[in-house]
Amino acid sequence: MVRCDELATFTEEPGSITRPYGTPSLIAAREKVAQWMREAGMDVRIDAAGNLRGRANGSEPTAPALLLGSHLDSVRDAGRYDGPLGILVAIEIVDRARASQQVFPFPVEVIAFADEEGLRFQTTYLGSCALAGSFSPAFLDLVDADGITLREALGTFGGDPRALADAALRSGEARAYIEVHIEQGPYLEFVDAPVGVVTAIAGQSRIMIAFSGEAGHAGTVPMHLRRDPLPAAAQIVLAAEDLARQTRGLLATVGTIDVTPGASNVIAGHARFSLDVRHPENPVRTNAVSALERRVREVAVTRSLGVEWRVARDHPAVPCDAPLTTRLAEAVAAAGLPVERLPSGAGHDAVVMSEVVPVAMLFVRCAGGISHHPAESVKTSDVAAAIDVLDQFVTMLANEKLE
Ligand code: GLV
Ligand code: MN
Ligand code: MN
Repeated sequence: MVRCDELATFTEEPGSITRPYGTPSLIAAREKVAQWMREAGMDVRIDAAGNLRGRANGSEPTAPALLLGSHLDSVRDAGRYDGPLGILVAIEIVDRARASQQVFPFPVEVIAFADEEGLRFQTTYLGSCALAGSFSPAFLDLVDADGITLREALGTFGGDPRALADAALRSGEARAYIEVHIEQGPYLEFVDAPVGVVTAIAGQSRIMIAFSGEAGHAGTVPMHLRRDPLPAAAQIVLAAEDLARQTRGLLATVGTIDVTPGASNVIAGHARFSLDVRHPENPVRTNAVSALERRVREVAVTRSLGVEWRVARDHPAVPCDAPLTTRLAEAVAAAGLPVERLPSGAGHDAVVMSEVVPVAMLFVRCAGGISHHPAESVKTSDVAAAIDVLDQFVTMLANEKLE
């Protein structure tokens, strides 16, 4: 908990927690976590995407590794547990084993992923994509709000755009990926359980939409002669909300909008905004995205605007691995805790890791279900429970015969 507080001081925006990919605050946070990994006896390296990877070799260094971790980047004005908690709990497992001279029969690797939130480049899961071997070279040409390319950002972040393929896990290198994370919702609080076993992670689409019209004088251009992109954007904000309210389980969010030139007495020339659409069932999500795209194009035609629709990320729903999840539930029961199962509406690096290794996730109860907000909070006793469960789980795997 003290370490979560300490990591919260690494930020690009003093007074809040904002740690986007590739920034000085993320580099400094990564150095701090690397120090804690070394103190826990791990060998530490930074991979070509800027992920931090700490490894404890165990008695059989060539056996497939057990991967544990979460992400170190954050949203804007974030809480202090979304991401860091999973990394720190994992380090604690390795440190406990070292302190009790327990040697696992497989390597344990703790990963602090560099870009799960996608705040800077709208690229969710960039860090885990590198491990999964699905980091598309096209990502390198993405630009942030200051016109800096991902290629440039990667260079200053200690990564290497030309060596991204080297960051990918090789076949047989890892046996599983387990992520501990705050729930970010109210379920565990409602059922009064400290932890929960995740069954599946909802699908997620992120889209960037832009309408372009003609900027002009707010006092002279008659209403019927305007080509104003901002009311068009407003129509889509409302259309997304309406569709989500009418579709069971669908969530649609416009979280950013950028208007240029941006003055109170100037008609906007350009409006660019994000759209995040989620649902546990893939067809419901993809149908909603198609319906909203049709609406965007209709609005552009009706208002004589230029339009851009760019799907930044599109991730189907992912079930957690059944045998691993059963084993995790056994570890919860062995720790004397009630076994609660729940799906995740939030995205996690486990989504992308599931492309290459079996994944399981453990949620920690979160006060009021509040997350992506500075008020995010967890109880120390719940974190202690999560550490006990993960410890049990790793010990159970260690006692199993290795395949
Ligand atoms: C990650 O936090 C997400 O947006 O689900
Ligand atoms: Mn997270
Ligand atoms: Mn998050």
